[in-house]
Amino acid sequence: MKTGISSIGIKLPSRYLDVRELATLRSVDPNKFTKGLGCHQIALCGDHEDAVSLGAGAAERALEAWGGRREDLGLIAVGTETAADMSRPLSAFIAEKLELSGALRSYEVKHACYGGTLALRQALEWHASGAAAGKSALVIASDVSLYAPKDPGEPTQGAGAVAMVIGAPTVAEIDIATTSWSEPVFDFWRPVGEAHPRVDGPLSLDCYKRGAWETTRARFGDDLAGLDELHALCFHTPFPKMVKKAVRFIGEQAGWDEAKASSFFEAKVEPSMRWNRQVGNSYTASLWIAVADVLSRAPSGARIGAYSYGSGFGAELLTMTATGAAPTWAAPFEQDALTRAAMDQSSYETWRVKTTHA
Ligand code: COA
Repeated sequence: MKTGISSIGIKLPSRYLDVRELATLRSVDPNKFTKGLGCHQIALCGDHEDAVSLGAGAAERALEAWGGRREDLGLIAVGTETAADMSRPLSAFIAEKLELSGALRSYEVKHACYGGTLALRQALEWHASGAAAGKSALVIASDVSLYAPKDPGEPTQGAGAVAMVIGAPTVAEIDIATTSWSEPVFDFWRPVGEAHPRVDGPLSLDCYKRGAWETTRARFGDDLAGLDELHALCFHTPFPKMVKKAVRFIGEQAGWDEAKASSFFEAKVEPSMRWNRQVGNSYTASLWIAVADVLSRAPSGARIGAYSYGSGFGAELLTMTATGAAPTWAAPFEQDALTRAAMDQSSYETWRVKTTHA
């Protein structure tokens, strides 16, 4: 059975901070954040925004674009690392806002930034197996990423949500074949009760690069033959420089010279991070923001790769084919990005003190 993405909805919070403002506040050369890390803007939540409201907002947009009946949904799964409760799934908080109840499987998936992809894969495999009995799934990836003030990860913060209805592949057909890799490590984790994550930045980069290589070689072979045929290769984007380093690494393993790695990055990867640069790291939503950006401009038949990474660690490479469907999700994203309020150094400092996440 052909299965994939039927519709997409994205929701951004109502505020943002330019990383150059943050650099000035922290007495750092702005080039470190913009050139050194490749960051531009950090999406930040307003007073009544959180992973639940963002997830529900994205879901409303995806459901509207889908146009189906609520009773034709058989599953709602939310990937997140911004849990609202240790027991009650975020899907229940979101379903409450959407007034979704009844013959539905509803649950939350946790695996750091990989949770949204796992939720999507489960929905895809459920649909393709026939267990869905013709119903579709609502998959949501929603997160708020915040580090402690002055933490090296602070310029890589962000927030946002992507929702997708999974069923008939009217937007993109996702291949059932997939390649994954996991290793139990502590590269990024948040102990119960702590407000901010602990990060071993260099270890997370090593794991991310290794996951990219292992999943890509398993799919395309040690020489990465066929990778060039992709229209685009999207990555989970903690910060754009990390993605660039991963592409350089997989190129080195495959025996590419520097020019080949650089031209592949510029042509197939760099354009997919346009929206990510306006959001920052939205954890589970990050990869799917890149995929949504690429799908909004991809012609029918374009082959797209999607590399998912979650600390802990788990990695997976998915492939899909775009249908060239009208990008109903692009205008709302651009509208959110245009209408949100810019914060300055002083409003950011005040916000950090009073936000419940700080
Ligand atoms: N102008 C231009 N570039 C500059 C610069 C300047 N003035 N100052 C520093 N840089 C460059 C550095 O050379 C470095 O580039 P390189 O890595 O290509 O060599 C880059 O900026 C970062 O500098 P660095 O000193 O390594 O930064 P840091 O120690 O402050 O922390 C991270 C960087 C990535 C470790 C930190 O941001 C982090 O922990 N981020 C979170 C990681 C994460 O999200 N992990 C989860 C993965 S899913």
